[in-house]
Amino acid sequence: MALVLAIETSCDETAAAVVDFDYNVLSNVVASQVEYHQKFGGVVPEIASRKHLENINFVVEEALEKAGIGFSDIDVFAATRGPGLIGALLIGMATAKAYSFVYKKPLVFVDHIEAHIWSNFLNGAKPELPALTLVISGGHTSFYLVEKDKSLKMIGETIDDAVGEAFDKVAKILDLPYPGGPHIERLAQKSTTPVEFVRPYIDSGDLNFSFSGLKTAVLYYVRKNPDVKKEDVAAGFQNAVIDVLVKKTMQALEKFEVKSVMVAGGVIANRAIRKAFEKFSKEFGVNVNFPQIEYCTDNAAMVGARAVDSFNAGQIGYFDTPAYSTSRPSRAI
Ligand code: KG4
Ligand code: ZN
Repeated sequence: MALVLAIETSCDETAAAVVDFDYNVLSNVVASQVEYHQKFGGVVPEIASRKHLENINFVVEEALEKAGIGFSDIDVFAATRGPGLIGALLIGMATAKAYSFVYKKPLVFVDHIEAHIWSNFLNGAKPELPALTLVISGGHTSFYLVEKDKSLKMIGETIDDAVGEAFDKVAKILDLPYPGGPHIERLAQKSTTPVEFVRPYIDSGDLNFSFSGLKTAVLYYVRKNPDVKKEDVAAGFQNAVIDVLVKKTMQALEKFEVKSVMVAGGVIANRAIRKAFEKFSKEFGVNVNFPQIEYCTDNAAMVGARAVDSFNAGQIGYFDTPAYSTSRPSRAI
C-alpha cells in the first residue's frame, strides 16, 4: 500500500504523520508550542516559525520511526499550504520540498480546512456522502457540502469571529490560559447555574454565523457582575455556542439533502459539543460523524488523508508552489 508522509505547520503545532492510501494512520506526532506562546496570550507568528524550524526534522523522524519505516518507503510527501501563518507554513512546505527533491517522490500541498474535513475519513471511518460538514476551529467556522466524489462547496461561514476564537477570547476575559477552549470546557462542567447569553444570528435565515456579539455580551456581563462565578459564565457561553451550532445544522439539513453530517476542527474536541450533536443525531435521525479526539485539533494525519485524494486527482505540488495566508486561491493547485 502506498504511503504519504504528511507535515502540518500552519499555526503552533509542529506535526508529522504517516498515512496509507486507505487513510489508515501508521503514526501521528504532534509537538505543541503552547508553552512558548501562552505568556503572550496567543500565537506569536515569529516564535511559531522559529520553533517549527527547530523541531520539524525531529518530528518527521519520530513519525517514521513510530511507523517502523524509512524515507525510502514513502511514495508522496505532503504539507499544508494554507490558510495559516505564512512563515510557519513555509517551514513545513520547504521541508516537504526538500524530501521530495532528495528522494525523488511527488509533492502534494493541502488546504488546512480541507484537511480538517478529511479527518473524518481516517482509520476506516466511512461517513456517507453527500455530507453536510461543519468546520469549527480557531480560525474558521463554516458549512460545506461534501459531494459523493468528495468535491466541496461552501454554503455558509462566520461573518466575524470563528467559534474557537470566541472560546479563546472568552477565556481571556475570564483570565484563563491560551488556548481557552479546553479550560472553558473544564470550568463549565462545574456550573450549576449557567448565565443566559444571547444566541447570536440564530434566526438569520442564512447559514452564516456570528460570534463576536456573544463574546461582547460575555465581556459586558462580567464587567457588570464582577462577582459572578467563572464557571457559570463559561457554561452559559458554551450553552449559547452549542445552541447556535445545533440549530444552524438543523436549518442546513432543511435546505440540503444529504446522507450524513460531519463535524471537524479543534472545537469538536469539546465533549459537551460532541454530546449535543449525538443527541441531535438521535432526535433528528441523521448520522453525525466526528473525528477521533486526537484528530480534532491540528495534526498531520488529516493532511495525509487529504493528500491521498489530491494525489489521485493529479493535483501535484511544485518546488515554486507558494503558501497562502487566508482563503484558498481560486486557481487550481
Ligand atoms: O483546529 P485547531 O487546532 O486550529 C485551527 O485550525 O484553528 O483549533 C484550535 C481551536 C482553538 O481556538 C481552541 O481553543 C479550540 O480549537 N479548542 C476547543 C477545545 N479544544 C480546542 N474549544 C472548545 N473546547 C475544547 N475542548
Ligand atoms: Zn486547524
